[in-house]
Amino acid sequence: MERQLKTLHWWQRGVVYQIYPRSFKDTTGNGVGDLQGVIEKLDYLHDLGVDAIWLSPFYPSPMADFGYDVADYCDVDPLFGDLATFDRLVAEAHRRGLKIIIDWVPNHTSDQHPWFIESRSSRDNPKRDWYIWRDPAPGGGPPNNWGSFFGGPAWTYDAQTGQYYLHQFCKEQPELNWRNPEVKAAMLDTLRFWMRRGVDGFRMDVIGLLIKDKDLRDNPPNPNAPPNLPENDLFSRLLQVYNMYQDENHAVMREIRQVLDEYDDRCAIGELWGPLPEWVRYYGERGDELHLPFNFRLKDDTTWDAQSMRAVVDALEAALPDFAWPNYVLGNHDSPRLASRFGGQAQARVAAMLLLTLRGTPTLYYGEEIGMENVPIPPEKIQDPQGRNLGPERTRDICRTPMQWDAGPNAGFCPAGVEPWLPLAADYATRNVAVLSADPTSILTLYKRLLHLRRATPALYGGRYRPLDVEPDDVYVYLREDGAQRYLVALNFTAAPCTLAIPGETAGRVILSTHLDREEAVSLDALSLRANEGVIIAL
Ligand code: GLC
Repeated sequence: MERQLKTLHWWQRGVVYQIYPRSFKDTTGNGVGDLQGVIEKLDYLHDLGVDAIWLSPFYPSPMADFGYDVADYCDVDPLFGDLATFDRLVAEAHRRGLKIIIDWVPNHTSDQHPWFIESRSSRDNPKRDWYIWRDPAPGGGPPNNWGSFFGGPAWTYDAQTGQYYLHQFCKEQPELNWRNPEVKAAMLDTLRFWMRRGVDGFRMDVIGLLIKDKDLRDNPPNPNAPPNLPENDLFSRLLQVYNMYQDENHAVMREIRQVLDEYDDRCAIGELWGPLPEWVRYYGERGDELHLPFNFRLKDDTTWDAQSMRAVVDALEAALPDFAWPNYVLGNHDSPRLASRFGGQAQARVAAMLLLTLRGTPTLYYGEEIGMENVPIPPEKIQDPQGRNLGPERTRDICRTPMQWDAGPNAGFCPAGVEPWLPLAADYATRNVAVLSADPTSILTLYKRLLHLRRATPALYGGRYRPLDVEPDDVYVYLREDGAQRYLVALNFTAAPCTLAIPGETAGRVILSTHLDREEAVSLDALSLRANEGVIIAL
């Protein structure tokens, strides 16, 4: 273990911070964040104590899906800056010891990408086969029954050439044909382009979708489809059997990984869902696929309950082969804010301690450190295609609102008199970086303390994880150990105080409480926790 810790990679030791560039900091006064805005906040991120920044897409894009519809994989949209700004961002981040991870969207392009414009121009265009075109079904209509994640069928008819093209998201996001070697070569080259510019890693969008069933068979009906689905939600009515997670996808993962391995110490993170046995295969049988298949289980498969959280962590620890490094995510640009999902600010603090003391790379989503909550979006202001197509309750805009920097106009996100692209949270005058960083007991102070403690403590960033059975079992207790260095984490998931005995331990010292008001020696025969309190105890 000692030896292993010394050889941990940056993406194992470090903490990732996701930035949604549109919403972070606007320096041009158009209500949309930009790369210069990220540069201006690098000192903030450095002080906060994160190690790597993941930027959601900033590529040229018609913004049908806010950048996840890419019109050029090797440039920057003028809305966000240009390649020179990007190069400065990389240099300035590296100067502060921060790594840069960018989003890579290989499954689909924009319908305005020159490749697709060529592909749709005629049936015999050399790029026709770069996308997935099919004749109508024998009786007419789409070639199979697949639905789009964003509502409606996954196929759109193109009258000019009399065929349908596949798109499992917006119709403006046609899917590339990864069975075509030219597509593969062109896309792999885009990885090299960014690695040559100094990019340290990629977050790979919907990476389990690249290869589809060769025969594009119909998906079977989903017997557990929720009732009252919107009529156009064809997707949720089907089991996703033939459109994703095909066995052949793993060969592509290995090729992607080999390209990253042409460069020094780059990291492959992939967006993957699915059952644990399927998901774990994405590390590769010999650790030769992704470094980190994103693990959304704490975010998606839990209730706010100690045993529910522990079950997810223990199942993950049991499922991972020795070479596989765990990781955890509690929020991102597609999900409700964690403070809203788990109940409120008290729960958000416990969640922060959990995420930052588990074994495995944590990913934070911008604004979590100030406890940002879902922002209700009036129906007429909805931007997200998912919300527009499937109904206001499905909009992801609620978690994409502007970062709250200070109590000034527009929360310091954009200048006074400019309308931000999404509404600001109503509580921004009190919930913002300036106010919370001056408060020694704020959630922001807690995040900073946790991040700096983790970074300085080998047992926390790299040690073993060992859960303990305790009474009452609505407290989640685990050890993090590295040689002689031992820490105990105890998280009270309830709104009632409690006292518990820690098996096998007699005494320790609280070094951090989620309440930020105690550092003291404690007896572990009778450890008292307040409502919604988490503590880290040095043993
Ligand atoms: C991923 C992204 C999401 C996007 C979709 C299509 O799920 O996280 O924001 O809409 O892929 O690219």
